[in-house]
Amino acid sequence: MGFRVRVKYLSSNIRVRVDAVPLPSLCIGDYFRVERPILQAPIGSLATVGLAAAVSNAGGLGSLALTWTDLNLAVDRVRALRAATSSPFFVNFALAFEPHALQHVLDAGAPAVTFSWGLPGELTKLVHGSGAAVGVQVGSLAGAKSALDDGCDFLICQGVEAGGHVQSSIPLRELLHVVVAEACGIPVIAAGGLADGADIADVLRLGANGAMLGTRFVATTESHAHPAYKSLLVESSCRDTVLTSCFNGDWPLALQRVLRNRTLNEWERAGCGPPGRRPGENEVTVRQTDGKAIMRYDDTPPNAGMVGDVLSCCLYAGTGVEKIQSIMSAQALVYELCSDAAAALGGSGSQAP
Ligand SMILES: Cc1cc2nc3c(=O)[nH]c(=O)nc-3n(C[C@H](O)[C@H](O)[C@H](O)COP(=O)(O)O)c2cc1C
Repeated sequence: MGFRVRVKYLSSNIRVRVDAVPLPSLCIGDYFRVERPILQAPIGSLATVGLAAAVSNAGGLGSLALTWTDLNLAVDRVRALRAATSSPFFVNFALAFEPHALQHVLDAGAPAVTFSWGLPGELTKLVHGSGAAVGVQVGSLAGAKSALDDGCDFLICQGVEAGGHVQSSIPLRELLHVVVAEACGIPVIAAGGLADGADIADVLRLGANGAMLGTRFVATTESHAHPAYKSLLVESSCRDTVLTSCFNGDWPLALQRVLRNRTLNEWERAGCGPPGRRPGENEVTVRQTDGKAIMRYDDTPPNAGMVGDVLSCCLYAGTGVEKIQSIMSAQALVYELCSDAAAALGGSGSQAP
């Protein structure tokens, strides 16, 4: 793959390198094209309209996670995002729960939907009927085959390195090549533990058509994460992440990858007991802005409005966390990731807007 760098002279003494031959764009069937093959993962309540818009406006693909969002709010958020960007984005529903808002957000103009933790089956027709594309997150080859049988337009191949609820038990790079082979040209997006340009270059080399990053986008200025959680992501290493069922909330069958903290340490010290036999489980650790109490083992990550012992909450993080060096704007992050990925693939320039 050859890369060229165009050099633009803005004035006699300022020289800015723009637009190294870019990474390949991502085509989702006939639905839309994404200029920069970087997806901002659904990150629950931490994905704001501002974050998704910034990513899409930077040429990537932003997203909203709407599984637990009240129906009217979900519609409002899709409308707000459509007003904030003319570029494509996607919304996500984890199918371990009923996707109550799905038809409503399609009617509001969501251009793509991804499903995780379940297969779409007949929902594929519903989404296609609204003119939107369907992506399915899978964590195994068997899951990929079923998602393809269901007629999805792209696959998200999640490895066990992922932050948040982890659908896969297989390392990303091991899973990716079999999923890419099975997909026969249907785009495959790699996810799990990816945090810098070198990671993105690596998965593109392995046949992925794009990379989806979750934890890395939590540590951006636009994410709704609590500042103390963002700072801890910058300070943490991959050895601080643990795959656990400690913070099981209302989703007991799903493991989560989180940063080790006091709640997890004390639960492990007490023998990893089930609900009813966990230390401090009746304690309120934080409160939301509206005063709502969050209990010690709740799976809600700390957001910007919370007060209390925020670092005792569920601190989702993938193994790529140690590559997060700073909290930056989502736009700057997308440009940096592309530039570094292009350089790692053999180019040498930066990808400024
Ligand atoms: C804070 C946080 C919240 C998440 N919420 C969701 C969600 O609502 N739906 C979903 O399918 N995946 C969710 N995930 C998983 C991501 O979509 C994605 O698969 C994962 O972040 C990729 O791994 P990485 O964090 O190492 O980049 C979440 C991940 C994080 C870090």
